[in-house]
Amino acid sequence: MTTELADRQTRHHLVTPQGRCHVRQLRRALAIGTVAHMELVPWGSNDTFAVLLEQDIVPGLIGIYKPARGEAPLWDFPAGTLYKREYASYLLSRVLGWTFIPPTVIRDGPYGIGTVQLFIEPEDRPLRGPAFRSQLQRIALFDLLTNNADRKASHLFQGRFDRRVWGIDHGLTFHVDPKLRTVLWDFCGEPIPLTLVADLRRLLRHRRQVQRLLAPFLSAQELAVFWQRCAALLARPIYPVLNPRRNIPYGW
Ligand SMILES: Nc1ncnc2c1ncn2[C@@H]1O[C@H](COP(=O)(O)OP(=O)(O)OP(=O)(O)O)[C@@H](O)[C@H]1O
Ligand SMILES: [Mg+2]
Repeated sequence: MTTELADRQTRHHLVTPQGRCHVRQLRRALAIGTVAHMELVPWGSNDTFAVLLEQDIVPGLIGIYKPARGEAPLWDFPAGTLYKREYASYLLSRVLGWTFIPPTVIRDGPYGIGTVQLFIEPEDRPLRGPAFRSQLQRIALFDLLTNNADRKASHLFQGRFDRRVWGIDHGLTFHVDPKLRTVLWDFCGEPIPLTLVADLRRLLRHRRQVQRLLAPFLSAQELAVFWQRCAALLARPIYPVLNPRRNIPYGW
């Protein structure tokens, strides 16, 4: 991997309840921790568990385990692939340097293979006001790029320990058909900020490496359509005007 891309992926620390931790350490801890305790998160539509992960790197580490086996069947997404989309989204956010998705790994667990993602304790307050604008613009662009079919308001929150904006639940992404459903409407019709356009250009410049990184988790067609979305956003760098009938998440 080129230095430019590798740097984006490695220069990153997080403030956690256990103190400042490097992402690489957190990912390792998520990957090797023994599940010492597990509790169902009762409101997810797929089986989701909070897990206490015993290991020596980050004591008291809590992860969110979403096993493939617990994914509710959907008519439009192939069965058992949501955890791969969740992980591909994480990898993409890392190569873009848009670090709003908590560190995530794919691993085995008590109910088989799935994702384990760092649990982020949310602040109980809405993300309103200019302070959040640029972070939300980035996430809105990420959702366009990944064709996120499930961006609910509860999937965006501020972390209690680090005050950053975090986004979770990226299992319904990378479909080949347009399926964007989102609560991020504030930017419709506005130009995409130049720094974000530059990030997309850089992504395209590294197309071969990024393709290799994502290929184990997405189909060839999904990847081809992903690159088409990327090129279309660069050709017309404007947040599209959405259709209020189609583009609102289920249950909103
Ligand atoms: N990384 C995380 N940090 C903190 N809480 C999380 C995290 N990931 C998931 N959760 C919690 O678990 C719940 C279910 O997770 P998630 O939304 O990813 O699953 P889902 O089955 O797709 O649910 P939904 O029906 O909301 O789409 C979330 O609403 C949130 O409360
Ligand atoms: Mg969901």
